[in-house]
Amino acid sequence: MCEDEMIPPQADMTEREWLRTGSAATAGGTPVRTTGRVPQWVNRRTLLGGAMAGAALAVLPSPGQSPASAASRRRPPGAFPFPEHPNGKGEFAILVTGDAGTGDEAQYAVASAARDVCKAEGIGLAVGLGDNIYENGPESDDDSEFQDKFEKPNSGIDVPWLMVLGNHDCSGLIPGSGGDPSRGDREVAYAATSRRWYMPSRYYSVPLPAAEPLVEFFAIDTIPWSSYVAQLDPHYRWDGPYMREQQSWLDGALRASRARWKVVIGHHPYLNNGKHGSAGSYDGFEIGNYTSGVHLKDMYEKVVCGRADLILSGHDHTLQILEPTARTGGTRQVVCGASAKTEDGAAHFHNPAAWQNFSDHGFMVLKVSGARLTIDAYTVDVATRKATLRHRARQTRPVAAVPAHA
Ligand SMILES: [Fe+2]
Repeated sequence: MCEDEMIPPQADMTEREWLRTGSAATAGGTPVRTTGRVPQWVNRRTLLGGAMAGAALAVLPSPGQSPASAASRRRPPGAFPFPEHPNGKGEFAILVTGDAGTGDEAQYAVASAARDVCKAEGIGLAVGLGDNIYENGPESDDDSEFQDKFEKPNSGIDVPWLMVLGNHDCSGLIPGSGGDPSRGDREVAYAATSRRWYMPSRYYSVPLPAAEPLVEFFAIDTIPWSSYVAQLDPHYRWDGPYMREQQSWLDGALRASRARWKVVIGHHPYLNNGKHGSAGSYDGFEIGNYTSGVHLKDMYEKVVCGRADLILSGHDHTLQILEPTARTGGTRQVVCGASAKTEDGAAHFHNPAAWQNFSDHGFMVLKVSGARLTIDAYTVDVATRKATLRHRARQTRPVAAVPAHA
């Protein structure tokens, strides 16, 4: 069970306001659940990281990062190549993990089990759905946490990993707050030195294969739309330039894509039956610009639903293959955030699901061919480091036709 998620006592506080409240705070007179564990999570590493981030914010403008084009992708010598051809089964197979960056035994066990499946399935690519470095992201561009919480556990899964930012990767004083997006730039910088870690910018797309795309991945940064706290840096406010540019880019990229299948990958889900709930009412909040995720909900509904085949998300430490519905415009939401942590075993909401699991560790494998898109969900027994295939979902018709000009 996950015990590290901090829930603010009311929506859209700043980090400093939250720190001042303590665990007895209420919202509108109604008690809101919190963990009440303030002293433990503000540890030395966190404070140092927060102080460094604060100092950087004081002297530097927030750079933001433009989405990478093929020409601007910087990868180091020896970087594992993107697959240009399907595997021996005629498919592109992609490992999907989420919320993996603890460095604990469970992460290593899930990665070990996934490694065996990757070999059997002919994996050519992997996805990390955010919260890559717990508890509050790396402290520098070459923090040893990149080794302990990513490279070492994933040794042997020697493919490019499409990484997206999670709230823990972009936190300031409070782990998981998402209150310092600029810290995510360290994970972008790390991509220039890793053979696996692929994050050429804070949001980007990857067509596969590059020449004649069959599937295209659209990696997005959901954090400033759904942080637990209000953003202090105007650049990263929900209606600031960074988020406006990202939404405009995603809209145009989806429209221009020549791929048969389109997959949006981002940390926070649109729909979610786990305890964090769905965008627009995350963790029971239905007010404010940040904590509820209302603007992320708007973005998903305006830009993604009915245009992408899948939304792959983490954040909730569960495994869910939800059903496409009229509400989603035929887009299927998948939650895969149990690669190091698990939840409380219970469904908290009732979006139609093909299969879901709220108690086991696990990962998924996405398999793509011209004829079909397949999602295999695996649970992992941490003690034995063995994976079990628990569900297979298939779809044969893309949600949206490829544009006529493609
Ligand atoms: Fe998260």
